[in-house]
Amino acid sequence: MIIVIIGAQWGDEGKGKVVDLLADRFDVIARYQGGHNAGHSVYVGERAFVLRLLPSGIIHPDKVCVLGNGMVIEPKAFFEEIDQIAEQGVEVSPERLKVSSRAHLIMPYHKALDHTSEERLGNEKIGTTLRGIGPAYEDKAGRRGIRVADALSPELLKLRVERNLEEANRIIALFGNQPLRSDEILEEMTPLIERLRPFVTETSHFFAEAKKANKKILLEGAQATLLDVDHGTYPYVTSSNPTAGGASVGAGIPPHHISGVLGIVRTYATRVGEGPFPTEMLDAEEGIAHLIRERGNEYGSVTKRPRRCGWFDAVSTRYAAELNGFDSIALTKLDVLDELDEIKVCVGYDINGGTTNTMPAASSDLRQIKPVYETLPGWKSDTVGTTDFAKLPENAQRYVNFLSERVGVEIGLISTGPERDQTIIINASTMDGWFS
Ligand code: IMP
Repeated sequence: MIIVIIGAQWGDEGKGKVVDLLADRFDVIARYQGGHNAGHSVYVGERAFVLRLLPSGIIHPDKVCVLGNGMVIEPKAFFEEIDQIAEQGVEVSPERLKVSSRAHLIMPYHKALDHTSEERLGNEKIGTTLRGIGPAYEDKAGRRGIRVADALSPELLKLRVERNLEEANRIIALFGNQPLRSDEILEEMTPLIERLRPFVTETSHFFAEAKKANKKILLEGAQATLLDVDHGTYPYVTSSNPTAGGASVGAGIPPHHISGVLGIVRTYATRVGEGPFPTEMLDAEEGIAHLIRERGNEYGSVTKRPRRCGWFDAVSTRYAAELNGFDSIALTKLDVLDELDEIKVCVGYDINGGTTNTMPAASSDLRQIKPVYETLPGWKSDTVGTTDFAKLPENAQRYVNFLSERVGVEIGLISTGPERDQTIIINASTMDGWFS
């Protein structure tokens, strides 16, 4: 069994909790795209883990975790994270963490280029995490990137760093920033890459063998559907493919071996960074946005940036459901809406006077969307920790059913708080019973 878990909105839907909840049912947990731009918070009892690069499964000592070929890996961030969770009592050895030999490395000049590119864009900046993700993927697509397997050869690493830095420094200097030195980069990277060596694996072969041995594999998407470089709100996107198709390419697993796709959907929307956000709560709704931000702790788990908050957008979430082929949905953070009198749901887009319920591609259209709302009554009572759907207030049940109808996918699980047991299983038989 191979399952993919994907955020349906702009990220931060609460994937960390859901992956952690399901981890027991899987043997292998893998990421297939992105890098340390992600930020998953996972709570286990008293312990809180913030993971950026490693799959959430890493905190379970009996799981094997994989960083797939579609990822971009910053060696320093990789070991900082390993050392940090070791301090929290979780040991990570090469036996249970595999890094694809085909993944690409993020180098110090990628980070510098990310800064330069954002400065250059000025008012039109993307609002990236400034971790060098975009420039590393640009080098990959430009066929000059440094793959893990090649970095293991000191001569090749030196050659590639020197060649790439020449070009990078020209751009960095053009914008008045400090050029980088290849000897310093190599001095920093060489010991890190040596430390990485035992983790390096031909991971697509590893997956093929795991499948033959009937192991259960969970592929954990980072970022989310609307940040997908092909299908998201381009150009305000990340530089990889978090969507279901990306899982096949980024893990090196044949598409027809994937048995199911679970969408993670939050009861409202948020976005970090710039870019179109049709249902964003602006000045008039600042009070509600503030309430949601505080109740939902909507601050970046790594960057601590306050997240922009908005109403549920059924148009873009339905688009995500179609694009990824969601078999079921885990609906998160229902309790965050407990205090609201009324809740709006966007059911259509008005673009220049015409109404549509499909996702526009043109950035000018994306900017001009005026959401068409339906308003539902709130439930004004405490749902935190509820574990039984029938015990939810009637209006909360109605809200959940309304979202499911509009998105066109059955909801299998509802999260009513950050802890593992603060969960409602609506349909345990969903997706081969892996909610049971
Ligand atoms: P980048 O991935 O750093 O290039 O950033 C591109 C866009 O993706 C920016 O809007 C970021 O805020 C957003 N982004 C990247 N990673 C995450 C994430 O894990 N959660 C939410 N947004 C993210």
